[in-house]
Amino acid sequence: MGKVIATVNMKGGVGKTTLTVNIATCLAKIHRKKVLVVDLDTQISATLSMISPAEFAKCRKENRTLRHLVSQAITRYGVQVEDPEEKVYQVKDIVIPHVCKVQGLDLLVGDIDLYDEFLVSEMLYNRSLLYEEKQTFQQTWSKFEQGLIRGILAPAMKNYDYIILDCAPGYNLITRSSIITSDFYLMPARPEPLSVVGIQLLERRIDKLREVYREDNTINIQLLGIVFSMSAGFTLSRYYQKVMDRVSSDFSAAQIFKTKIPNDVNIAKAVDAFIPVSISNPNSGGAKAFAELTVELLKKLEVSLGKKEQTSRLSLVDLE
Ligand SMILES: Nc1ncnc2c1ncn2[C@@H]1O[C@H](COP(=O)(O)OP(=O)(O)OP(=O)(O)O)[C@@H](O)[C@H]1O
Ligand SMILES: [Mg+2]
Repeated sequence: MGKVIATVNMKGGVGKTTLTVNIATCLAKIHRKKVLVVDLDTQISATLSMISPAEFAKCRKENRTLRHLVSQAITRYGVQVEDPEEKVYQVKDIVIPHVCKVQGLDLLVGDIDLYDEFLVSEMLYNRSLLYEEKQTFQQTWSKFEQGLIRGILAPAMKNYDYIILDCAPGYNLITRSSIITSDFYLMPARPEPLSVVGIQLLERRIDKLREVYREDNTINIQLLGIVFSMSAGFTLSRYYQKVMDRVSSDFSAAQIFKTKIPNDVNIAKAVDAFIPVSISNPNSGGAKAFAELTVELLKKLEVSLGKKEQTSRLSLVDLE
C-alpha cells in the first residue's frame, strides 16, 4: 500500500508546491518509485508546474480534474440510495500518467474550482436532519471530512509507492481531509519569523484535529520533517540562523531536514516551462538539493516505517 504524504504549511509562498513536484520527480526518476501528485489547491500551481495551461484546459473540458472526483464524492454522500447503474469514476480514470515523460510519475490534475462551500454545508445540514437524526451537524460534517480525500485515494493506494498531496495555504475542508488521510506531512518553511508562526499554527491545528478524531482513531499522521527553503538574497547570516535555531528548539533534530533548498533562479524558470527543475536542469543547485533531500526523505521514511512496524509487533507481543 502506498504512503500518503501531505505538503502543508498555513503560510503561503513558502515552497510547498516546488517541494511537492520536485520530490515526486526525484522519487520517480532517480529511485524508480511509482508516485502520484495530487493538486489540492485551486491556484493549480502543482498542475501548472507539470503540464501547460493548454493541457490543463483540455483536461478540464473533458472533466478529467480532481473536481470531478470531489463533486462525485459530495453527491454520493448526499443521496439516500445510490444508483447501481451510475458509473463511479476513480483516480485511474482521470489521472495523467508518466507526466513530464517521467516513467512512474502521475498527476491528478487540480482545478480552479473544487467545490461550493455553501452547497456542501447545505447538503450536510440536510443529511444531518434527514438521515442521521442521532447525529449533530458537527458529527455529520466530521464524518464527511474524514472520508472525502480518503475515499478518493483509497482505490489508488495499491498502485503507488507514494501519493504526495500539494495542499493550499490556510486551512480549508480539503486540507483538513488531507491531513486526516495522510501518513506523513512535510512542512516547507522559510527561515523568517512569520513562517515560524505558520509552523506553530499548523502544529496546533493538527493537534486539535487529533483531539477531535481521537475516539475514531483515524489520524495517524506524523511529521516527516521541516524543510527550509532559503529566501531571495539569503546568505547564512546570523539572523536567519537564529530563526532556524528557534525552530530547532521546538522540534527534535530528526524533525528538521539537514538538506536546505537554496534560492535558485532555475527553480522559478522551470515553472515557466511547466516542468520541475529536477527534469529541466538536473545539474542546477536547486535540483541537486532536491535530489539530496529525497535521499534524506527516504531514510526518514525507512526509520519511521520501521518504528511503526516495531510498535505494531510490540503490541502483538503484548496481546499474547
Ligand atoms: N528555492 C527557490 N528558489 C527560487 N525560487 C523559488 C524557490 N522555491 C520556490 N520558489 C518560487 O517561489 C514561488 C512560491 O513557491 P511555491 O509556489 O512552491 O510556494 P507555495 O508555498 O506552494 O505557495 P502557495 O502557498 O501560494 O501555494 C514560486 O514562484 C516558486 O517558483
Ligand atoms: Mg502551492
